[in-house]
Amino acid sequence: ERVQVAILGAGPAGLLLSHLLHLAGVRSVVVEARDQEYVQARVRAGVVEHGAAEILREAGVGDGLDREGLPHDGIELRFDGEGHRIPMADLTGRHITVYGQQKVVRDLTERRLADGGDVRFACGPAQVHDVDGPEPSVTYEVGGVGQRIVADFVVGCDGAHGAGRVALGAAPVEKEYPFAWLGILAHAAPRITELVYANHERGFALYSMRSNEVSRLYLQVPASDRLEDWPDDRIWEELAVRFSLGGEPWEPTRGEIFERSLAPLHSYVGEPMQRGRLFLAGDAAHIVPPTGAKGMNLAIRDVSLLAPALAAQLRDGEESGLRTYSERALRDVWRAEYFSWWMTTMLHRFEGDAFDRRVQTAQLRSVVTSQAHSTALAEAYVG
Ligand code: FAD
Ligand code: DHB
Repeated sequence: ERVQVAILGAGPAGLLLSHLLHLAGVRSVVVEARDQEYVQARVRAGVVEHGAAEILREAGVGDGLDREGLPHDGIELRFDGEGHRIPMADLTGRHITVYGQQKVVRDLTERRLADGGDVRFACGPAQVHDVDGPEPSVTYEVGGVGQRIVADFVVGCDGAHGAGRVALGAAPVEKEYPFAWLGILAHAAPRITELVYANHERGFALYSMRSNEVSRLYLQVPASDRLEDWPDDRIWEELAVRFSLGGEPWEPTRGEIFERSLAPLHSYVGEPMQRGRLFLAGDAAHIVPPTGAKGMNLAIRDVSLLAPALAAQLRDGEESGLRTYSERALRDVWRAEYFSWWMTTMLHRFEGDAFDRRVQTAQLRSVVTSQAHSTALAEAYVG
């Protein structure tokens, strides 16, 4: 079997890439390891930045976002028992939209299938071959029968543990953080109207939402903790302490916790994002810690650069777009790595000395009192 572009992974990157290629008249196949239910049930990011929302709208897949997404004009930074609002819309003229990654994936999947797109779920982990030659290929197995797709180009949108990253074979530039995020979803009306990022002695906490009925909350926990260490009551009590206002515990509205997960924090960039006829996009190429809410947005941004470059090469033989893809994408990637690292180091509790802790608080004070400093945060956050 032969196709113009073989795409690994049906996350935001792979699905949007195949949709954008379709709009440009290029045929692709998406090969996804897991089944459709699993992919659509996977809970992850929640913030769509301005630029990513524009890309989705321009591609004609922004209706769900505009209908069900919650526009937010600001965020709160809470530390030393006080809340400080960063008025992002006033500072930048742009806003973010709280809209779950699950819904982005649902919208894209529905649109691909409605357009007759070739999205193959439940293929198991696919493999990539011969990326340095003229005929790269992807193989996978269904029901014990081997399948092989030969393509002009292979794109790895298969996340941090996929085959794309392995085939790239580059030594990554990376950084580990000594903690993880415990994330929950609860059937509880959020007590807030804007996200709260809290820096507390006992660690970072984040109050977010998915709708007016569903709250999304995160706690910084040691990387070695397990979900069993965190029964429901302990989670709610710890959240109340970390969101304290004026020395008093401040508890989020409680509700049934119906999803929970642990995610370690790290930064990772594989450079360049290309090798021969293999290109990488999204988490396959780079990971950011979630504090800046950039992961999904970067994935969307990558494929908005890659799709026109692939189309220009395949339709017109114009290769400059592909030649410069990695360089152009990495500029934004490193800006996001920088912002995510900054947010992470400013907001989390590190095993440090008193000096580091004081500097952290001074930095937060500067961000909330200097308009220049808060504008810098707002610009990076809204994208
Ligand atoms: P993915 O969404 O990971 O999609 C990759 C797809 O490839 C998956 O469907 C996978 O099953 C498939 N696959 C893997 N290997 C293979 C293979 N060999 N063959 C075929 N298919 C394969 N970002 C934020 O901005 N905010 C957050 O709060 C946030 N929370 C997160 C929580 C967790 C637990 C994780 C893991 C990530 C989180 N992220 C968050 C990051 C964000 O979700 C990712 O940046 C985003 O999913 C990237 O999209 P993607 O399409 O590149 O990769
Ligand atoms: C969410 C996740 C983030 O990492 C973040 O910075 C903000 C919101 C969320 O899941 O809602």
